Amino acid sequence: MKIDLIFAAGNKGRRDFHGKTVVVIDVLRATSTIVTALTNGCLAIYPVADPGTAALFRRQLGSDCLTGGERQGLKISGFDLGNSPLEYTAETVAGQRIILTTSNGTRALLEAEHAAEILIGSFLNAGRTSSYLLAKEEVVFFCAGTNGEPGLEDLLCAGLMTDRLLAGGRAAELTDAARIGLVTYRHLLGRPETDLVTVLSQAQHAKGLAALGFVDDITYCAQLDTRPCLVCFRDGRITMVPGSNNASEA
Ligand code: MLT
Repeated sequence: MKIDLIFAAGNKGRRDFHGKTVVVIDVLRATSTIVTALTNGCLAIYPVADPGTAALFRRQLGSDCLTGGERQGLKISGFDLGNSPLEYTAETVAGQRIILTTSNGTRALLEAEHAAEILIGSFLNAGRTSSYLLAKEEVVFFCAGTNGEPGLEDLLCAGLMTDRLLAGGRAAELTDAARIGLVTYRHLLGRPETDLVTVLSQAQHAKGLAALGFVDDITYCAQLDTRPCLVCFRDGRITMVPGSNNASEA
């Protein structure tokens, strides 16, 4: 199999996603929030580019939906929810559809269009996602990063999934970018005594979130394989793959 990695939204360059499986990763916090919402009973998430599009889309969908997202890490004025996964409880999101716009995560998702398949990756569902990827020939980890720059948290998650693919026995050809993700993961998290929360807290974006009072989000997003499901983005909507939410398969 071939494994590639993109460091940040806006950096896909001349890549062609046709025939490839793209895994979009925004550990802090968009993809962790998406996985949380769907495993808490949200029906579907519609990623959009900006708050104006979210408002228009809401009028089309009708009152029976919520708006969520952030700019500069904070809830957007007039929106129902911010981008903290801790807000997306079953009480709030079960049975709901959510229109979501975030600074980098939803941008990466929208840039991944035309891929054969688009999956949503986070530490929460990394094991389930990488076991599914074992059957694929071409995988691209599309890290959202921050404002065009790589984010340590996303690289680590992509590196972890790459490590699991290699451990799963597939012969793999890695691009240099994918190798950087793998080496970063193995260097910082490859030993059993390493602590994901501690390492994640060193990321620049984590420090920014902590300064805004979102320390608990970092701890939450650092949970490994606690929500073992497959989440896909197809035809404008993000949903959980039916029957994929199975802890034994993680
Ligand atoms: C993003 O899309 O840039 C993030 O999810 C920002 C955040 O932490 O809310």
